[in-house]
Amino acid sequence: MKRKLNKKNIIILSIIVLLIVIEIINPIKLYNKHVLKQLNYSDTSINTILKYGKKDQVLNSKNNKVLDKIFNSKDYKDKNFNIYLELNDSNITNFVSLTNSLIDKGYNAKEINGILKNSSEDDVLEFLKLDYQEGIDNYLQFDFFKLSNYQEYIDYKKENNIDYENIVINVNIGLNKNYYEDANTVSKFSITMLVNKYNGLDKDFVPSDLVSVDKEYAIDSKQKANKEMYEAFIKMSDDCKKETGYKVIFRSGYRDYKSQEDTYNLYLKTYGKKYAEVYAAHAGFSEHQTGLAVDIKAESSNTFAGTKESKWLSKNAHKYGFILRYKKETEDITGYKYESWHYRYVGSIAEKVYESKMTYDEYYIRFLDK
Ligand code: DAL
Ligand code: ZN
Repeated sequence: MKRKLNKKNIIILSIIVLLIVIEIINPIKLYNKHVLKQLNYSDTSINTILKYGKKDQVLNSKNNKVLDKIFNSKDYKDKNFNIYLELNDSNITNFVSLTNSLIDKGYNAKEINGILKNSSEDDVLEFLKLDYQEGIDNYLQFDFFKLSNYQEYIDYKKENNIDYENIVINVNIGLNKNYYEDANTVSKFSITMLVNKYNGLDKDFVPSDLVSVDKEYAIDSKQKANKEMYEAFIKMSDDCKKETGYKVIFRSGYRDYKSQEDTYNLYLKTYGKKYAEVYAAHAGFSEHQTGLAVDIKAESSNTFAGTKESKWLSKNAHKYGFILRYKKETEDITGYKYESWHYRYVGSIAEKVYESKMTYDEYYIRFLDK
């Protein structure tokens, strides 16, 4: 009896050992792991993929980078797998957990991709407080959609019968708010920086590379500008002279906070508030404080509009990196009347801005506001 039992035990034990060995060197499993590893899946991901039997779907998918992130996460939920398959990559913190919450709210993969794009975790958490938003696709379709502005789009749409694209653009510019109220502060200098009534500068903001303007190209010896802008201006002025017989010169380039304050106050005193508001920026909100803007004087005349120089500039300035900043009939967007003399240096994108026929405010919001 004892011998018999021993034999039986040995057989059972051998089978168990054999099964373990087979499991360890399971050729199919080893092969699967190898294939998934070749697709750069991590060990954690591979275990999850095999645990839920998702290997074939994973191999058929081209979305390996995103799937790896998802399978790697402790928040992986197998019931959401079909939506995961269609997700775009995202660097947002807690990507999988936020995605799960959006799925629970009823959003599909396309909507989730739009919602997460360019958004922060906080934006999404705030958005998740709302019920499922029917029709959010109307807004999500634009690259420049901002989740943090979503409620403002909805409110603005109620009051303005315009298409969704312009709703998103206008709200992103700030047109749903009052000028200067809740303005953003721009602290980093760049050639393409946007400064307007919604995006201001600190009192002590000083642009990079300020240089003095040569007397030959200015009304007085006090003019300053950003170096890159200044060099482009000189070339432009020299070419203008070659083609029209006259130079263009600096009437007013860089203005610091204090001098912009003086400028505004002078307008206020001379012409009254209504006029001052549409021709002069409040201190801290002028492009002149960036060193990239210049009010241009024609050599041939004291009034600018209609001169040979002004006509030449309107056809050529973009070739030198300058754009006319406050165009005719754009007061609704820029907040300023047409200023034929105020040019803004934006560098190599000037041609594109010119061809777009848009105000710089709109161009920036559409293409540069990242
Ligand atoms: N004249 C323009 C708007 C300025 O003051 O900056
Ligand atoms: Zn100006």
